[in-house]
Amino acid sequence: RSAIVPVAGLGTRLLPATKSQPKEMLPVARKPVVQYVAEELVANGIEQILFVTGRGKTSIENHFDHDPELARLLAAANKHELLEHLSAVELNAKFFYTRQRLQRGLGDAVLCGEHFAGEEPFVVALGDSIIGLNASSQAVSRMAELFQERHASCVLAIEEVPPEETVHYGIIEPADAEGDVFRVANLVEKPAPGRAPSNLAIAGRYVFSPLIFDMIRRVQPDSRGEIQLTEAIQLMCEEGRRVLALKLPPGEKRYDIGNFGSYFATFVEFALVESEL
Ligand code: UTP
Repeated sequence: RSAIVPVAGLGTRLLPATKSQPKEMLPVARKPVVQYVAEELVANGIEQILFVTGRGKTSIENHFDHDPELARLLAAANKHELLEHLSAVELNAKFFYTRQRLQRGLGDAVLCGEHFAGEEPFVVALGDSIIGLNASSQAVSRMAELFQERHASCVLAIEEVPPEETVHYGIIEPADAEGDVFRVANLVEKPAPGRAPSNLAIAGRYVFSPLIFDMIRRVQPDSRGEIQLTEAIQLMCEEGRRVLALKLPPGEKRYDIGNFGSYFATFVEFALVESEL
């Protein structure tokens, strides 16, 4: 029922575009990235979303808030279609916000959601990644089912990446596979070419038991002072907890907007769907 969406990162790879606006608010065709993320979560049955924000990210809160003045103006001008688009932004879910005070990595951002998650399993969805064209993915629902059926401690979404790109992602070492479901033996964060245990990369969606919070607390900061979520999941593997990975179906690839190459490609792909433009 609950999802944590970390959106506190500095987005330095997208400077200068992200100097004074969050990368999660950059538009992909008609909508900001984070709106696709929220829509995907709601379509997968999520009822409450916690955004972990930071300095300079208040436009995310404003985006999901009601704007009575704008609504009045559009209604007075008979712009009903635009009004409908606006109400779609106010999704049928409860929104919560907290702030990560120092950008100490993804693991630390997730830890900010400990009280929100409570004793229940929860989803983590990266605020800079869209799953499936126009966010039409049911992967999170399948991951939640797997989590329950297989009594897992963690389920990751994964996808194949070209061998030269493993250096950008958390990579799994699969123990065994059954169709598109893998048992994960180990994980490596951003392995150099030739040192990756596979070309299966974590794809920005996770289901966790609250056990992950204890694991995050045990992780030491890396050389850049960041607490890596991948390290915390690796601790789960080392303790013999069941960590599973679900490969995204071919039609549901991950669109990462964290660097200009894939941001441009994503924008073009989403824009080209609108053939009249
Ligand atoms: P990235 O790993 O892409 O990090 O974050 P970043 O800091 O935003 O980007 P660069 O490397 O400076 O360009 C993946 C997701 O995790 C969030 C980001 O907002 C993004 O949605 N994140 C990352 C946090 O919430 N806090 C952090 O300390 C780091």
